[in-house]
Amino acid sequence: MEKRELLYSGKAKSVFTTDDPDYMVLEFRNDTSAFDGKKVEQLDRKGMVNNKFNAFIMTKLAEAGVPTHFEKLLSDNESLVKRLDMIPLECVVRNVAAGSLVRRLGVEEGMDLNPPTFELFLKNDELGDPMVNEYHAQSFGWSDEATINKMKELTFKVNGVLKELFLNGNMLLVDYKLEFGVFNGEVVLGDEFSPDGCRLWDKDTREKLDKDRFRQGLGGVVEAYEEVGRRLGMDF
Ligand code: C5P
Repeated sequence: MEKRELLYSGKAKSVFTTDDPDYMVLEFRNDTSAFDGKKVEQLDRKGMVNNKFNAFIMTKLAEAGVPTHFEKLLSDNESLVKRLDMIPLECVVRNVAAGSLVRRLGVEEGMDLNPPTFELFLKNDELGDPMVNEYHAQSFGWSDEATINKMKELTFKVNGVLKELFLNGNMLLVDYKLEFGVFNGEVVLGDEFSPDGCRLWDKDTREKLDKDRFRQGLGGVVEAYEEVGRRLGMDF
């Protein structure tokens, strides 16, 4: 598989075409951004850590029967993935109240959500990724009912697999964001799963081990990501 030209550069990853139109190369960069790109920093080793973390999680999810775009690690910072037709929606599941939910509804951070909630956000930087509902998604043609139901089913399936995985490392999976696309007619998990796109707390101390360390200026960001990996048995 030969890496060809840059297709798209996002806030933390770049995407390259390959000589096979069905596959792409994802490059995980050290760039770290928050608040719609208003805060940006380079964090040493973050690209490598997230690339390997994502490979580990995507492999676990595939083993549990979740179709993913991940094919294989190519290098410290690169992975080979299927080229999906991306759905412009972000699927968020929350097990514990935190982040925008707390700001929006005035509830206390740390409140258990039983059952967990599911939210959809439109991927649109200019609008600040507004929350939308399933009717918006259909009325504006961003997706259709069957695809939305499939994304929801897969997002909750991921919750079952990962809640347990992180609990085995004494961590709470507070919330996370997933993105999906279509490959040969099938709804497939795309983008990445890393501490950049989820919240993970130590189960006993509730110490934050995710990107909130960057958002809140707590320091030790990549060290926390590596700690999460180590608790799952990973070796960077
Ligand atoms: O900010 P909010 O509380 O809505 O985020 C919910 C979850 O989705 C968090 O884990 C956050 O890291 C993730 N997220 C993300 N990318 C976004 C928005 C949220 O990874 N654009």
